[in-house]
Amino acid sequence: MVLVGRCVQTVVVEQPARLTGPMGWWESRVVPRLVDVSLRGHEIGAWRAACCTGLRGGVLEIGFGSGLNTRFYPTEVGSVDAVEPSDRGWAMSERRRAKSATDVRRVGLDGQRLRADDAAYDSVLCTFTLCTIPDPALALSEVRRVLRPGGRLHLLEHGRAEDPRVQRWQRRLEPVQRRVAGGCHLTRDPIELATAAGFDVNVIRQAYLLPQRAAAPMAWGHLATATC
Ligand SMILES: C[S@@+](CC[C@H](N)C(=O)[O-])C[C@H]1O[C@@H](n2cnc3c(N)ncnc32)[C@H](O)[C@@H]1O
Repeated sequence: MVLVGRCVQTVVVEQPARLTGPMGWWESRVVPRLVDVSLRGHEIGAWRAACCTGLRGGVLEIGFGSGLNTRFYPTEVGSVDAVEPSDRGWAMSERRRAKSATDVRRVGLDGQRLRADDAAYDSVLCTFTLCTIPDPALALSEVRRVLRPGGRLHLLEHGRAEDPRVQRWQRRLEPVQRRVAGGCHLTRDPIELATAAGFDVNVIRQAYLLPQRAAAPMAWGHLATATC
């Protein structure tokens, strides 16, 4: 609390959630590395490049992770405001941020409560984050609020597959996936979520992100842009 004359002003500082116990250690130390290793390959890189195409101006990236999108930012991007709760993920992104020609700063910890004015951004980038964010509908309503009229959300997510057999595996594996992968869901449908949030969604591609059959439940990819 800061006292100024007779005014009393409360300064709220966002703090990352403190994760304790063995699962806390796993989530804060191991999950960011697992995510980095499993999502940095060149097959997924090609999807990332496609997702970043058309980003412009002031960009908000929610769930910035270890900065795997930085190399795909187009030159039309002026700056990137990153929202990322994991200090470890943010620290892991340092080298990638340093190499990037785009200025990136961390502006928050929670995509469900953005500390930005209405209509503050030209574009929002969200890759492999709606699967993990606890309340994706709330996050998407915040994204709508902070996008300027005519601005665009660029989405790349994994989620519910179209093949019923894969869907069955996704339902079976989801409880384990949530525990070991930091709350990641397999059965969410990002296109449905964005549509329900009031976006006009343009689906660009839906296909497996990786060729390995065993990865199918984790790897049904959705690439889209959305306007409101
Ligand atoms: C699977 S990782 C993807 C990371 C990165 N977007 C990428 O494409 O490599 C999911 C990310 O969402 C972040 N996340 C989890 N909860 C979040 C929240 N409430 N707000 C913003 N990001 C969140 C995690 O810390 C993690 O970095």
